[in-house]
Amino acid sequence: MIAEALTWMFSKAAKGARRAGLVYEAAGISGRFRRNKSAWQPHLEKTKCHIRAQIQKTDPNMRILVLGAGLALDLPLAELNKHPAGAILCDAVVTPTLQLKLFGYPNLSYEIKDITGLLSHIRKNSDCDTISVPNSTFLRHRDFGLIISCNILSQLPLSFRNYASDKKTAADTTQNKAHINPQKTHIMNAVQDAHIRTLKSAGCPVLLISDFKQRTTTGGKTETALTAPIEQLPSPPLETWTWDIAPEGEIGKSISVTLDVGVWLLTGPSLTV
Ligand SMILES: C[S@@+](CC[C@H](N)C(=O)[O-])C[C@H]1O[C@@H](n2cnc3c(N)ncnc32)[C@H](O)[C@@H]1O
Repeated sequence: MIAEALTWMFSKAAKGARRAGLVYEAAGISGRFRRNKSAWQPHLEKTKCHIRAQIQKTDPNMRILVLGAGLALDLPLAELNKHPAGAILCDAVVTPTLQLKLFGYPNLSYEIKDITGLLSHIRKNSDCDTISVPNSTFLRHRDFGLIISCNILSQLPLSFRNYASDKKTAADTTQNKAHINPQKTHIMNAVQDAHIRTLKSAGCPVLLISDFKQRTTTGGKTETALTAPIEQLPSPPLETWTWDIAPEGEIGKSISVTLDVGVWLLTGPSLTV
């Protein structure tokens, strides 16, 4: 509880990110991680393992960019730090824990950035009608040897969705939270499309790791929802696995949530759209 409060108080955030709920979410993730360490471990290890393998193949003279660094739970910091040209860890939020950790990794730096460029436009209970759909998401205009999109693709629309769910009417129930107006749905899809489009045209190898399907089991009944547009990614993925993100008891009695996670390698300019 104290750690979560400190994360909430001392995190640095891009403009609009705190209001859009991302600092609150960072504090929440640190708590969920502490409670579910062993259930999360296989997913964190798989992610690190794919990143390590890709670092080995990266030109030692070219930097690595990580998008969605978050708390760096799924990042092999030692190996990123050993990469001679170093790495930049980018996220809309940087927590005090990560800032402290990075003192031990002189080859790593962080950059606070809202990669959609839209967080500061979100207004509580607004219907997003004034937000224009982006064509691309942020990418530094600098040569990188490798870009890693690290478990961020499914998260990009959530700030928009969470504001939508503030607009609950008396008729809404927890089962009926997909009560989202069409403009919000449009933006939520558009930020994911823009991220994939940007990565495909990055001109260097891109490792994209993301969940794409959520399974929620309540009292033995399972509901499935897609969390990312994998039809836009090369098929088949390099690997897929299951992340036990909320074992029974984390959200409630007799409720558990798992995510299907995949990893894709998007290589170079030939994939430009
Ligand atoms: C599930 S976390 C990624 C996991 C992370 N690698 C870790 O180990 O903690 C998703 C991350 O996406 C970031 N994020 C969400 N929307 C963003 C945006 N518009 N710009 C930049 N980062 C964003 C969140 O702050 C969060 O850290």
